[in-house]
Amino acid sequence: MNSGVEVIKLRNVTAGYKTTLGFKSIFKHYQVVLRNINLSITRGEKVAIIGESGSGKSTLLKVIIGLLKPIKGDVLIYDKQIYKLPWRERVKIIRKIGYVPQDPYKALNPLLKIRQILAEPLEASGLDDKTIEQRVREVVRFVGLQREILDATPDELSGGMRQRVLIARALIADPEILILDEPTSALDVSIQAQIINLLNDIYNKLGTTMITVTHDLAVAQYLADRAIILKEGTIVDEGSFDQILSNPRSEYTRKLILSYYVTTFKTVE
Ligand SMILES: Nc1ncnc2c1ncn2[C@@H]1O[C@H](COP(=O)(O)OP(=O)(O)OP(=O)(O)O)[C@@H](O)[C@H]1O
Ligand SMILES: [Mg+2]
Repeated sequence: MNSGVEVIKLRNVTAGYKTTLGFKSIFKHYQVVLRNINLSITRGEKVAIIGESGSGKSTLLKVIIGLLKPIKGDVLIYDKQIYKLPWRERVKIIRKIGYVPQDPYKALNPLLKIRQILAEPLEASGLDDKTIEQRVREVVRFVGLQREILDATPDELSGGMRQRVLIARALIADPEILILDEPTSALDVSIQAQIINLLNDIYNKLGTTMITVTHDLAVAQYLADRAIILKEGTIVDEGSFDQILSNPRSEYTRKLILSYYVTTFKTVE
């Protein structure tokens, strides 16, 4: 479903976290995590960003969703340089992105009921309470949850249900792009399969551009057509799974493929 319309583009992005404040050269005060990242994602694509722990996957997502201004380089969402826009304009564009953060056990406020958690992204929308409740119920049904969970708090839900709640929250404002940070890694294997099916279902029904971050090549293959492989903050390989599996360009990709086959073999045993 590649339309050719570029929805996300990163040009020479270097990004990281501030370490100290001071007057010396700017780079001395950053822990640089991403180096010279160039990538382009088109509307309707299903892309996986794959890399080991600490390679900068979540940092890359933070840059894309407008939360972490790069040290240098350009971030374009729908052709707009988001970090050059006034905050309000930036928010308008970022609203087109639904984001599922990494850990379903940490990402939900334990003091709120699921209804409040889901309604929150719509609070500034100007919609009346009845319409918001309708939308909340619709989305809950869509992700395969019962309406009763709306009165529960996150602690009363299993990991799989929490992940569904996070997916519902990401979908509530009808995003054009869905970004998922390790959507299955905190879950039991049987639940992982359910979430993978749900995400593919969402993709097929809504046609959203879908970007999945994972450290697992097998999960990536289920959830994407194209892979971007990150190692120590740089892209070391990129292409369709066919290309990557048959002609890996980096030593790291080769290792990833090897461990993928070993794991698959183990599972078959
Ligand atoms: N808020 C932060 N402040 C300072 N350093 C951070 C912050 N978040 C991440 N880092 C550092 O940036 C590097 C990359 O982290 P990041 O979370 O992007 O990796 P990741 O690929 O998502 O890892 P994981 O698979 O474990 O989630 C790590 O060295 C991490 O310690
Ligand atoms: Mg991460």
